Parts: sequence; C-alpha cells; structure tokens
Amino acid sequence: MPPFPRFRSVVRPVFSFLLICSVTLAGPAPAAPPVEDSIAQRVLACTGCHGAEGRAGADGYYPRIAGKPAGYLYNQLVNFRDARRHYPLMSELLQPLSDDYLREIAEHFASLDLPYPAPARAVNTPATLTRGEQLVRRGDTQRDIPACARCHGDNLMGLTPSIPGLIGLPPDYLAAQLGGWQSGVRHAHAPDCMAGIAQRMAPDDITAVTRWLAAQPVPAGAKAADAPARPLPMRCGGVPPAQQDGGLTQ
Ligand code: HEC
Ligand code: HEC
Repeated sequence: MPPFPRFRSVVRPVFSFLLICSVTLAGPAPAAPPVEDSIAQRVLACTGCHGAEGRAGADGYYPRIAGKPAGYLYNQLVNFRDARRHYPLMSELLQPLSDDYLREIAEHFASLDLPYPAPARAVNTPATLTRGEQLVRRGDTQRDIPACARCHGDNLMGLTPSIPGLIGLPPDYLAAQLGGWQSGVRHAHAPDCMAGIAQRMAPDDITAVTRWLAAQPVPAGAKAADAPARPLPMRCGGVPPAQQDGGLTQ
C-alpha cells in the first residue's frame, strides 16, 4: 500500500476547487474557454471527497451531505470555516467564501433527494442493540441523557432547518462525531447541547447507540420533520428559538 493512499483523491479536488474559486471570484479571463457556471459545477471539488452528488465517499470516512437539512449544512460549513470543527483541507477551501455563498452551497446539497444505501452488515449482540435503541427512543434519566428521537425526530431523519438525521450514516462516522464532542474537537453554536449529551455517554453507550443507528434502514421517501412533536428537551445553538422551550442549556 502506498504511504499516502488518499493523496491523489485529496489533492485533485483541492486544486480543482481552488481553480473553480479563482474563476468564480475573479470572473473568467477574456481569453479563457467558457466555464459552465452552475452550482453543480462549482461544487465538484466537494464531491471529489464527499462522493458523487454528495452521497458519501466509498470508505465511510467522507460523510454524506446530500439531503441533510439546509440550516444544518450551513451551520457546519460556517463551523469548519470558523474553526469550531476541524478538517484542515476542507476548512482552507471554505476560508475565502462568504456566508451567502456557503448558504447557497448548503441549499444546493440539501435539495438533493437521493436514495440511501442499505445498512452495512454487522455483527451486534442483542444487548448492544437493546441498549442502543433504549438511548435513542427513551434516553437514560439516570445519566440525564434525553432520548435522541426527541430532537432528531421520531423517524430519526432530523428536524428542519438545523438538526440532521442519524440513520443512513456509517457507525464509524457517528462514533467519531460523538467522540469529537467528548474530547472538545467538535463544537456547535452555543449552547452546544450535543457536547453536554456526548459527555454524559459512557464508551459502551456510544458503541451501542452508533451500532443500533447504523443498523436501521432508511425507509424510502423518509424526510426530516418540519416541527418537533414537543419542544426540544434542551436548548441547542443554531436551532430556531420557536422549536425550543428555553430549558436546560447543558
Ligand atoms: C479534502 C476532502 C474534503 C473536501 C474537498 C471537502 N470536504 Fe467536507 N468533509 C470532509 C471530511 C473528512 C469531513 C468530516 C470531518 C469530521 O469528521 O468532522 C467533512 C465534513 C463536511 C460536512 C459536515 C457533515 C455533517 O454531517 O456534519 C459538510 C456539510 C461538508 N463537509 C461539506 C463540504 C462542502 C460543501 C465542500 C466543498 C466546498 C467540502 N465539504 C469539501 C472532507 C472534505
Ligand atoms: C436537545 C436536542 C438533541 C438531543 C436530545 C440529541 N441531539 Fe444530536 N444533535 C442535536 C443538534 C442541534 C445537532 C446539530 C449540531 C451542530 O450544529 O453541529 C445534533 C447533531 C448530532 C450528530 C452529528 C450528525 C452529523 O451528521 O455529523 C450526532 C451524531 C448526534 N447528534 C447524535 C445524537 C445522539 C446519539 C443522541 C442521543 C443520545 C442525540 N444526538 C440527542 C440535537 C440533539
């Protein structure tokens, strides 16, 4: 195996993105051949890592972005640009981009309505799956962990505009995000409700919840909810105030 197996797939999109940025920002030079100026063309650099149409990279490392709620995607782009989340190759690409442009990119990916892959086969013990489902559906009052479904929706497809779905994602990606909140590598807009929730989860809880979530198929046509069934159980930054009850912040 070469020492840097991702080198080519990473460097290629970075260069094409920079090229596209410079064309977009400066306008095409008079002698340049005509460049198709559509948003789909401009985000080709993103799909170099995030898979065709943003359906996720092949190896579970580059997350799906297609069809996630627009406000959530926008908040993440701002978070990477402003160093609340860290992936230097992507953050550097976002540095020169304005809020309006990031919103346009977010709306483009959010509007893509594409099927999800079937869950990968995995061997899970019944105890792991039972614990995972318990946390998702009912939470754990002893640890002060609210049910994930209270915010991520009963069908776990998220809540527009700012809360993402939790199914259709690889377990390693989910575990990395919860670990990132525990260790302080990932931050959301304050109050960062997910940091509080992740920090109360034991390592076995993270394994259980991510294994159960990753084993759930995404039903055809399943969509994020437009309103929560009840106000959210904690306040979360970046979520419209009307969806929250002004309750706990952490
Ligand atoms: C060099 C590869 C690379 C490029 C190019 C890239 N990304 Fe990413 N992106 C990643 C990785 C890796 C992550 C996950 C990082 C993590 O685990 O926090 C990520 C995360 C994201 C997320 C957060 C997903 C979520 O569910 O929270 C969004 C949104 C995103 N990228 C959008 C974009 C857009 C839009 C572009 C183009 C402007 C882009 N990315 C370009 C590698 C890349
Ligand atoms: C009080 C509301 C609330 C509850 C309860 C909640 N979440 Fe979240 N979750 C959020 C919000 C808001 C975000 C978006 C954070 C951001 O903007 O980065 C999020 C994001 C996430 C993400 C990131 C997804 C991605 O694509 O990167 C994961 C993973 C996650 N939550 C898992 C869970 C799990 C597991 C539980 C239950 C143990 C849970 N959440 C309970 C509000 C909540």
